[in-house]
Amino acid sequence: MISIGIDLGGTNIKTALVHREKGFLKTSSIPTEAEEGKEHVFDRIALAIEALLKDEKDKPIGVGMGLPGMVSMDRKTVKSPPNLPGWKTENVSSEIEKRTGLPCVIENDANLAALGSARFGVGTELDYFIMVTLGTGVGGGIIINNKIYRGTTGMAGELGHVIIDYHGPLSNSNTRGGVEAYLGQRFLSRFAADLIRQNTDNPLYIKFHKDFEKLEPVDLYKAANEDNNLAIDILRKAGEKLGYAIVNYVHILDIRKIVVSGGVAKAGKFLLKPAYDTAAKYLMPPFLEEFEIIYESLGNDAALLGAASLAFEELQ
Ligand code: BGC
Ligand code: NA
Repeated sequence: MISIGIDLGGTNIKTALVHREKGFLKTSSIPTEAEEGKEHVFDRIALAIEALLKDEKDKPIGVGMGLPGMVSMDRKTVKSPPNLPGWKTENVSSEIEKRTGLPCVIENDANLAALGSARFGVGTELDYFIMVTLGTGVGGGIIINNKIYRGTTGMAGELGHVIIDYHGPLSNSNTRGGVEAYLGQRFLSRFAADLIRQNTDNPLYIKFHKDFEKLEPVDLYKAANEDNNLAIDILRKAGEKLGYAIVNYVHILDIRKIVVSGGVAKAGKFLLKPAYDTAAKYLMPPFLEEFEIIYESLGNDAALLGAASLAFEELQ
């Protein structure tokens, strides 16, 4: 059985043709061009699907798609995704069905990263875990007994907007001091830039001071790997924030396995060790037993595989 997985992000639309047992058969990625408006984005998704199916003999069971926002219980509509400017309540599923003739189910991207991990990644070993995706936004997926936990209306697991400092900065969803307002890619880069500006002899200053917009988390990671203490310090502070958030997640859910993925997670131990240490310090001691933060090496592919898995599980 084959299906199509789509991961719609603010920057790229990733598509994949996936076999239920074998995983990826074909993948592609094109820029979202979100600034051109949502109709344009739907058209681009349809074109990407068409290209993927060219020369394909088998008919896919349908399309599963992840979006960076909250999704209704019937898996058709997305609601005000914070990082897709101008999108309100959009029936994405019918837009894709209309254009491709294929049935389409949608889901929150981080929920799908969790599902992808559960079906193809480190999550295959776990019946219960919490997925935290660290990218443009910070997302969450909660797997309970091998299934996505969706709350009462489909929107559970907005872990990036769990508040860790009520004096903190505002995120794009108007939450104050949510972990996304520190670790979301643009927030992290801005926070880093502010500190780097005060260290004019640091290699990061020399490389980026003309245009801090170009500074990405991966640059911090590279610098940290070269013993740049400022980069190490920035990632440590970010990791501590994540650690506090994780304490809240564990205290609410009593789930001790935290799986992380996404571009920012590539900062690896520089981010995840301080996150672990902070969480371990402030968790109520009985929760420490079997507490673990696990890196999902599928990275961004987790969401894509999860999207295809959703189609297998919901459309047959
Ligand atoms: C959104 C989530 C999404 C996450 C990752 C957050 O800003 O609120 O719904 O899962 O970004 O894209
Ligand atoms: Na979620």
